[in-house]
Amino acid sequence: RDEPLVLGIESSCDETGIGIVRGQTLLANAVASSMDLHAAYGGVIPEIAARAHVEAMVPTLQAALAEADVTLEDVDAIAVTAGPGLNGALMVGVAAAKALALAANKPLYGVNHLVAHVGVAVLEGGSLPDRLGALLVSGGHTEILRVRSLADDVELLGSTIDDAAGEAYDKVARMLGLGYPGGPVVDRLAAEGNPKAIRYPRGLTLPKFTGTAEEPGPHRHDFSFSGVKTAVSRSLDHFEREGLEVPVADVCASFQTAVADVLTAKAVRACQEHGLDTLLLGGGVAANAGLRRLLAARCQSAGITLRVPPLRLCTDNGAMVAALGAHLVAHGVEPSGLDFATDPSLPV
Ligand code: KG4
Ligand code: ZN
Repeated sequence: RDEPLVLGIESSCDETGIGIVRGQTLLANAVASSMDLHAAYGGVIPEIAARAHVEAMVPTLQAALAEADVTLEDVDAIAVTAGPGLNGALMVGVAAAKALALAANKPLYGVNHLVAHVGVAVLEGGSLPDRLGALLVSGGHTEILRVRSLADDVELLGSTIDDAAGEAYDKVARMLGLGYPGGPVVDRLAAEGNPKAIRYPRGLTLPKFTGTAEEPGPHRHDFSFSGVKTAVSRSLDHFEREGLEVPVADVCASFQTAVADVLTAKAVRACQEHGLDTLLLGGGVAANAGLRRLLAARCQSAGITLRVPPLRLCTDNGAMVAALGAHLVAHGVEPSGLDFATDPSLPV
């Protein structure tokens, strides 16, 4: 009971999330998604996302308070995503959080969305190990992190230089006419196809980009998915030109293998080179069956413990923000005050 009761607010993309935790215990995780509103456009439209947050914020807050059976007065602190993300979307959550903190006289923490994806893991399996790496893969980001301390020592080892992994899934699904979001359906079709049917490129794996452990190249731990996306497009053109039926399942399986292979290879290598013996997977693409299978196998061979939170905690949600907030409170970190700004490209 003496652990801090923290309310977390997430609004960096298309999910309005309010979570409530007590220390490392999850009490509520209410999420409203505007994904359906974006489906017609094949991707998240920032203006629509921001408007949806305005509509969903108070009902989602009420749902979370009811689920946790607490009132705003009971809460010890409020945490909110300050960045990175879509600025208009972030501003809705930050404005709501400041209003609540001011009205209820609670300390407020502006937190980093990527660090919150890591911090959420304490809600399933408790405190995090010291030598921790994280692979975050979603529609908006693709990063490898080294986590020494959730409070103040998280290092970005690598990230995508173009599309996010989930974005590549969504674009390939669009080319195949499979709708939005594309990840789940491509994943499902991939299970029925031959992953070796077509050899798609693995981005940024040439020596000139990766270098060596001693002399790292410019993109050793970075990702690029524009090449594989273009290659899929070219292969579809080829089938059309030749008057052949597109082997959709084979295209999905081959694409999925290329993406999972490069994500896994780079994450495992980063862990090995930095002496990290636990790898945490986060983001919506953590649902991907091909990625999970390959990552589990290669982590096991490399002696790395793979930690994958349940999917509802991997996708964007408020509980991850609350969990990080509770960690900051428990470690005596000073609140942010009420005058910080959103930062769409907030570094870790
Ligand atoms: O973390 P998330 O829910 O939020 C945003 O990034 O907005 O991730 C959504 C992304 C979408 O791009 C979706 O296509 C992808 O995650 N995704 C998947 C799978 N399920 C969702 N990608 C590959 N395989 C899946 N099973
Ligand atoms: Zn996210």
